Amino acid sequence: MTVIDQASSLRTLTASRARASVIAITSGKGGVGKSNIAVNLAIRLSAARKKVVLLDADLGLANADVLCGLDAPFNLAHVLARRKELKQVMCLAPGGFHLIGGASGLARMADLTDFDRQRVIHAMAELEQSADIILIDTGAGISPNVLSFTRAADHVLVVTTPEPTAITDAYAVIKVICRENDSRRVSLLVNQVRTSHEARAVYERIAQVARNFLGVSVLDGGYCVLDEHVQTAVRLRRPFVLSAPRSAASLCISHLATRLQRGMITPHQAGSGFFNRMSRWFRR
Ligand SMILES: Nc1ncnc2c1ncn2[C@@H]1O[C@H](COP(=O)(O)OP(=O)(O)OP(=O)(O)O)[C@@H](O)[C@H]1O
Ligand SMILES: [Mg+2]
Repeated sequence: MTVIDQASSLRTLTASRARASVIAITSGKGGVGKSNIAVNLAIRLSAARKKVVLLDADLGLANADVLCGLDAPFNLAHVLARRKELKQVMCLAPGGFHLIGGASGLARMADLTDFDRQRVIHAMAELEQSADIILIDTGAGISPNVLSFTRAADHVLVVTTPEPTAITDAYAVIKVICRENDSRRVSLLVNQVRTSHEARAVYERIAQVARNFLGVSVLDGGYCVLDEHVQTAVRLRRPFVLSAPRSAASLCISHLATRLQRGMITPHQAGSGFFNRMSRWFRR
């Protein structure tokens, strides 16, 4: 895409969109690369002049701040403790996006009081007006906390690796998400692949089973290669798209960002908005 094409498609998106697109990045198995994808994708989308907020919603083992080399004094725990507003705990991260740090060791969303839940809902609704894209790193599995955030999203990007255990768990997550049978889009991203062919084979396998047994179509979210620059970047606490912008993994993230902007993976749909979806969920 040329710079002019990109600018005009961004203008079109901005003009036609009244609220942020909310994308939850989730997985069945832990450690497949969600947080790395989320942080680096946030940076690439910011470079395309999108206002991006990344919410680290892994309330048990939050670590997006660590990947960014940040040591923010406040996080979601302070919001839930009513000591800070959500906007006050948001910090500018390397690469220009805003990060709301998670709260390690905090009780699950399911254990919070109704009042606390309402606070999160209202705070998120405010963000929806001021951001173009809200990325939510949900943590792994199908706990009530993870599911509450996938329910709140327009689009769910399920991350897997080619390992059989990760594939099985990714399918389990897709099954639970799709059981609710609403308009959310689900796409699959295969991380840590050796070749595009390997990624394609994993996607086809999951998509076919989902089609045959669940009757749903899972979109192709693309892939990210297994790249030692990712591990080095994690050790350096500097996102790999910044520390190794020309690495194979960085190119994959650029490709993912471009496809997202073009609506190829998670096209924006007019919907009821984050606030209404969250409210619906919490009223259950
Ligand atoms: N594309 C990749 N190439 C090489 N290594 C990778 C890649 N993606 C992830 N990793 C490795 O996997 C580790 C775990 O990644 P990450 O923390 O992003 O996973 P996660 O899914 O967020 O984990 P959790 O479920 O614990 O939140 C990284 O520290 C890195 O070493
Ligand atoms: Mg993580």
